Amino acid sequence: MKYGKFGKTPFTVSDVGFGAWQIGSAWGEVSDADGRAALNAALDAGMTFIDTADVYGDGRSEKLIAEVLKVRGGNRPMVATKAGRRLSPHTADGYNKANLEAFIDRSLKNLAVDSLDLVQLHCPPTEALYRPELFGALDDIRKSGKIKNYGVSVEKVEEALKAIEFPGVVSIQIIYNLFRQRPAELFFAEAKRRNVAVIARVPLASGLLTGKITGDTRFAADDHRNFNRHGEAFDVGETFAGVPLEIGLQAIEELRKLVPPGVSLTAFALRWILMNDAVTVVIPGARNAEQAKANAAASDLAPLPAETMAAAHDIYDRLIATHVHQRW
Ligand SMILES: NC(=O)c1ccc[n+]([C@@H]2O[C@H](COP(=O)([O-])OP(=O)(O)OC[C@H]3O[C@@H](n4cnc5c(N)ncnc54)[C@H](OP(=O)(O)O)[C@@H]3O)[C@@H](O)[C@H]2O)c1
Repeated sequence: MKYGKFGKTPFTVSDVGFGAWQIGSAWGEVSDADGRAALNAALDAGMTFIDTADVYGDGRSEKLIAEVLKVRGGNRPMVATKAGRRLSPHTADGYNKANLEAFIDRSLKNLAVDSLDLVQLHCPPTEALYRPELFGALDDIRKSGKIKNYGVSVEKVEEALKAIEFPGVVSIQIIYNLFRQRPAELFFAEAKRRNVAVIARVPLASGLLTGKITGDTRFAADDHRNFNRHGEAFDVGETFAGVPLEIGLQAIEELRKLVPPGVSLTAFALRWILMNDAVTVVIPGARNAEQAKANAAASDLAPLPAETMAAAHDIYDRLIATHVHQRW
């Protein structure tokens, strides 16, 4: 496992972290036992970054994390949570100091800590990013000690570019994977210039980039790969990275040819992300110990050759870009 600085914060984190949405909700049945085992396997493998949110299982993910960390004791990983999605309706006006403090107080309780390492605005409406008073409120909350750092999870590259204009924003979480290459064009250079940490989410395009999904795969009713296929519940880009399944499957067949012998497509997809040094941490979601352990191993893979990187870019250009590039 490799480690690096988390932007301008004092934290050092592993370059592969743990995505904890699966141990909350929206991925079909994941038992508490599997959730605990997944997180323990991740930590045993050297991961020191966990990404969760207050809405993952309405606090279930945060509480499981607190429980596992308490039992383990010792050095704590950096735990990033998110706030904002409890708002209903989810509006820019709702992103005010009183609401955020209430959400943060609840996460403090769920995570059983007196200060959050990192709270991320949870894909707020674009309009919220044009309200300096929101970032002023976050500065105030940080000064109160309830949070150590704040960042923004975004849907679009332009939102990322806007958010990092606020000097208090230490990190941006954005979808970046073989099927979503646009963040590397402009945003990454800006993030690097400002020493803003980049958290790459949905690295496996919701499992598509593992190569195990086929046209016949069926998902449970409470799995977003069933209920959000057309953006019914949240941004459609969060499900299969917004790529139509049949196109994604076609691209996967071409990507398979680029994977070095002895390496899984999953590990290849994660290593591809880590080839860009603007990425601070990639956060694959895992539903069990086996997945968490396999994902951790991607950190130690050899760098991918330049011709492989070029070929992966070509597959994106030919098959995928038209469906996603100008949408996010
Ligand atoms: N708005 C936001 O801020 C936001 C939105 C989305 C995600 N996130 C964060 O980003 C994290 C990652 O994104 P994601 O979970 O949406 O998608 P992802 O990491 O691209 O895909 C996760 C899925 O890939 C499969 N998988 C993972 N590791 C595997 C392995 N080693 N072998 C085989 N299959 C494997 C599993 O599918 P199966 O379940 O089919 O086994 C898993 O559920 C989340 O957990 C969450 O922390 C944040």
